[in-house]
Amino acid sequence: MSPAPQPAVHRRPGFPARVRIWEVGPRDGLQNEPTVVAPEVKAALVDRLAAAGLSVVEATSFVNPAWVPQLADAEEVMARLTRRPGVRYPVLVPNVAGLERAMASGATDVCVFASATETFARRNLNRSRDEALAMFEPVVAEAKAAGLGVRAYVSMCFGDPWEGDVPVAEVRSVGERLLAMGCDELSLGDTIGVATTGQVLELLDALEEAGVGMDRVAVHFHDTYGQALANSLAAVERGVTTVDASAGGIGGCPFAKSATGNLATEDLCWALAGLGVETGVDLVQLVATSAWMASVLGRPSPSKAVQALADRVASEKREDPT
Ligand code: HMG
Ligand code: MG
Repeated sequence: MSPAPQPAVHRRPGFPARVRIWEVGPRDGLQNEPTVVAPEVKAALVDRLAAAGLSVVEATSFVNPAWVPQLADAEEVMARLTRRPGVRYPVLVPNVAGLERAMASGATDVCVFASATETFARRNLNRSRDEALAMFEPVVAEAKAAGLGVRAYVSMCFGDPWEGDVPVAEVRSVGERLLAMGCDELSLGDTIGVATTGQVLELLDALEEAGVGMDRVAVHFHDTYGQALANSLAAVERGVTTVDASAGGIGGCPFAKSATGNLATEDLCWALAGLGVETGVDLVQLVATSAWMASVLGRPSPSKAVQALADRVASEKREDPT
């Protein structure tokens, strides 16, 4: 077999040795799919992503199934996972009912998901922003008491389709309240993919000024305007070492008009490999997984790296059937 596809490495000062990719494809990627994907296919996707070297694979959501029918099979997906040592399989939980379902399914990591804006809190959680934060309090307390890892998403950090610009102070305040509740880390969501690099750096500066270290911050970009990779690299150069991405670039949010797919994991891996930043991911296995998922979903992956590499990966597999 010819050498694995990889870019030439050009290390630059200011980039870390390693970035942890928080894979969200099976959750954020699939939650918006109109055609229901079978639980065994979802579990196979999670297993293949973990086998490709992703150490965090967000597996599903324990939300109200009437709100996200695609993920109504969360228990079944969790039961089918082949849990690999050293891999974490976080799940979304909006309330205590969701946490109880998640814990009964053996989840060891959970995520609550808040909104920086009032309108999206109501649309996504059927609650005001404050009511949603109050809903999370017992979730975080019970999860921490049980020894679980707890991440907090903050959505609409960079723009909201109903409210427009989102003041940095609002994002910072919601983030601080979530950390004060006991959440381990914040993931800053650009739910509708409108952020640009200066805005990202401005928010990271504001969080650091408020005493939130970059080791507690992750970034989560959707790619509506093609800025997700640039924004992620800017955040990494600024000190962030956890980046959310979705294999093949699938994704969106059913409750946010104009949300498209997340940053594609393959595009991120290619860029980081070029900078000599370790991710632990085997790009060949990852591309093969996303090409398979694209065939399941019946449309090509939007990821440029998958498009560039899929034929080569397929032909190498044919040459080497092991
Ligand atoms: P609600 O309808 O207001 O809930 O939903 P409720 O508390 O009034 O309960 C209504 C019924 O739902 C009750 O049943 C509950 O038991 C049941 P009934 O008594 O009528 O028979 N119920 C549940 N059942 C199972 N599991 C549960 C659960 N909760 C209630 N967990 C709720 C409020 C928050 C639950 C709802 O709005 C919801 O599920 N929202 C989730 C929306 C969602 O999943 N959005 C996508 C994820 S967020 C995202 O994608 C953004 C992110 O990627 C970051 C970014 O990009 O910015 C993370
Ligand atoms: Mg998202």
